[in-house]
Amino acid sequence: MKEKVETLKKEMKEKIKSITTLKELNDLKVEYLGKKGPINELTTMMRDLPVEEKKEFGKVLNEVKNEANTLFENTKKALEEKELNEKLQKEKIDITLPSAKLHVGAIHPLTKVIEEIEELFVSMGYDVVEGPEIEEDLYNFEKLNLPKGHPARDAQDSFYITEEMLLRTQTSPVQARVMDANKEKTEVRVICPGKVYRRDDDDATHSHQFTQIEGLVVGENISLSHLKGTLEELAKKLFGMDREIRFRPSFFPFTEPSLEVDVSCFKCGGSGCSICKGTGWIEILGSGMVHPNVLRGCGYDPEKYTGFAFGIGPERVAMLKYGINDIRNFYTDDLRFLEDFNRTEGSEQ
Ligand code: DAH
Repeated sequence: MKEKVETLKKEMKEKIKSITTLKELNDLKVEYLGKKGPINELTTMMRDLPVEEKKEFGKVLNEVKNEANTLFENTKKALEEKELNEKLQKEKIDITLPSAKLHVGAIHPLTKVIEEIEELFVSMGYDVVEGPEIEEDLYNFEKLNLPKGHPARDAQDSFYITEEMLLRTQTSPVQARVMDANKEKTEVRVICPGKVYRRDDDDATHSHQFTQIEGLVVGENISLSHLKGTLEELAKKLFGMDREIRFRPSFFPFTEPSLEVDVSCFKCGGSGCSICKGTGWIEILGSGMVHPNVLRGCGYDPEKYTGFAFGIGPERVAMLKYGINDIRNFYTDDLRFLEDFNRTEGSEQ
């Protein structure tokens, strides 16, 4: 019987070695130490032995049982540890990996400038009005004192769709539309932001599509001084409270007189630097007093009404303000540009 026990022990030890999972271990434990297992069987058999042998064999059997229990217990611990380690290994998170970069949204520099301008004019009682991008020749040119064959039409190379329809080359036609639509011929105070199109070759400073904001005020006794005061506010809003403006004579068919507006350099304050090309002044917009022909053509009596108008390019403003040197950056949706802009936003004037 003793021999039987020895072989049993050997056999069990051998089997336990090849165990790889807790389930297998548990099955093996039931096989050997369970009710129907060989050890229990031997215990039952032991009852029939004579007292002396029973004592001795009982001891051996107890030892085997204890040894088996310890062996199972230790193997269980080892297996549990092994499984835990495997799990840890499998689910390991490498905290040294660089994190996936989150792109935080930001307002496009062009939108920012447009919104800034709208905010100022709305606070001064202007309406924001939009017009069509596919425009009639009538509004884009004729009602703006640019009849067919007028040489100034050549300055705005156009995308014509039909003889009479084109992609608007400027936001000025919205002026004529607003005045036309005002049947009571009451006073007008509007700004008109939007896209415009010209047959230009794209480069760092030209784009076949860009934006403009048109301004128009029509009323009784509107004078050049109203225009000056208004544009001074605009210059301050965009480029800082210390800004001054100056007028230079110019020509636009729809204004008389026509004036180009310069703002004192926001970088050097007027002493001359690379931004203002040493002049102390930066050209920012075109403007003037609405031409009597334009007023008349839109049903306003030029004897009674006068007005001023201006047109500003948000791209130019944003390029100056944020030091952007290629206009194409605005339209390519390149996050590297937009992110770079966000970083430099703090240096805004
Ligand atoms: N429409 C002009 C342009 O595209 C800009 C402009 C100049 C608009 C003078 C005006 C103005 O309203 O009075 O060059």
